[in-house]
Amino acid sequence: MKAVQILGDVSSPTIATNYEMNRPTPKNAELLIRVHAAGITGDEIIWPEPYSRATRIPGHDISGVVSEIGPDYNGPLEVGHEVFALISPDHGEGQADYAICSANEVTKKPKSISHQEAAALPIPLLTAWEALSDHGKIKSDMKVFITGASGAVGILAVQIAKHWFHAHVVALASSQTHESLRHMGADEVLDYKVAGWESQIQGIDLVFDTVGGEVLEKCWEVVADTGVIVTVGDPAPEWAFGRGEAVESAGHPGVRYKHFIVSSNAERLGECGEMIDSGSVKPLMVKTYPFAESAKAWAAARQRGRGHKIVIDFASA
Ligand SMILES: NC(=O)c1ccc[n+]([C@@H]2O[C@H](COP(=O)([O-])OP(=O)(O)OC[C@H]3O[C@@H](n4cnc5c(N)ncnc54)[C@H](OP(=O)(O)O)[C@@H]3O)[C@@H](O)[C@H]2O)c1
Repeated sequence: MKAVQILGDVSSPTIATNYEMNRPTPKNAELLIRVHAAGITGDEIIWPEPYSRATRIPGHDISGVVSEIGPDYNGPLEVGHEVFALISPDHGEGQADYAICSANEVTKKPKSISHQEAAALPIPLLTAWEALSDHGKIKSDMKVFITGASGAVGILAVQIAKHWFHAHVVALASSQTHESLRHMGADEVLDYKVAGWESQIQGIDLVFDTVGGEVLEKCWEVVADTGVIVTVGDPAPEWAFGRGEAVESAGHPGVRYKHFIVSSNAERLGECGEMIDSGSVKPLMVKTYPFAESAKAWAAARQRGRGHKIVIDFASA
């Protein structure tokens, strides 16, 4: 089968295409998915997981068709069902003709969108939902600030915070994206290129930061005394993974803060898919590359200011 590989090490990786990989076989309760399209999160190239896998196949976001079912699977999916999945970090390997999923990773694909559009959604959708709901405890009377609001996670977070949780949404993004962010539900928009943006807002109940670094540092200046900061920006802050306290927390003792890695959750992904089919959340714009141009696709996925998610097509030859 065809598969993308990340070769080399994390300091000088190369994206390769391999046409002679072995097709995996589903064991126990696993499912084998014929992948039609796979989404790219450009920063995966700096995540440790693909380098620790013998196959070196990256990829967690897929959309395709159930091809084979393991002997112990007793869930609702059948061979031939159209599905999408967030394959969890420890096994990944989604950027291939066939990929293995566990039962908790895969669910029916939204009917109203293509495989390419569906493949762009699992990580961004589940990250936005987990950040706002599980970690942020979002409520309708909250003022929510979303950084990187024009990115894949940010766009979905703006829509979910506004249309699902009815919060007041403030979005941070470059000015050319402000009109579309307002259209998607942002009540206020700020431009990160304008020096001192952090002095334009105050009393934020929930910050969802998807950028990290200096932007995350400035979020401490806008959060309310008893607010919460949730971040997923890469690279992760020094205090993430239980490595210590954020230095800023000394001056903001009432602020709760959290970094997390998104979890697979088939039931929740299915519910998010229904939000797409009902029209309450719009899918991301995508640009699709053929498999043979996977290296170009990865290079594009790592560029800033794209405005769309990059997807690799595995359905055509
Ligand atoms: N921990 C987890 O489980 C998890 C899950 C999903 C994603 N992530 C991480 O979260 C981040 C966002 O993911 P994504 O898929 O939404 O990425 P994306 O589509 O590439 O979007 C990135 C966004 O961040 C903005 N941005 C980048 N650098 C910036 C800076 N220095 N100042 C201000 N804004 C900046 C970009 O704005 P411009 O377009 O204007 O440059 C863009 O809106 C990535 O680092 C990703 O690896 C982590």
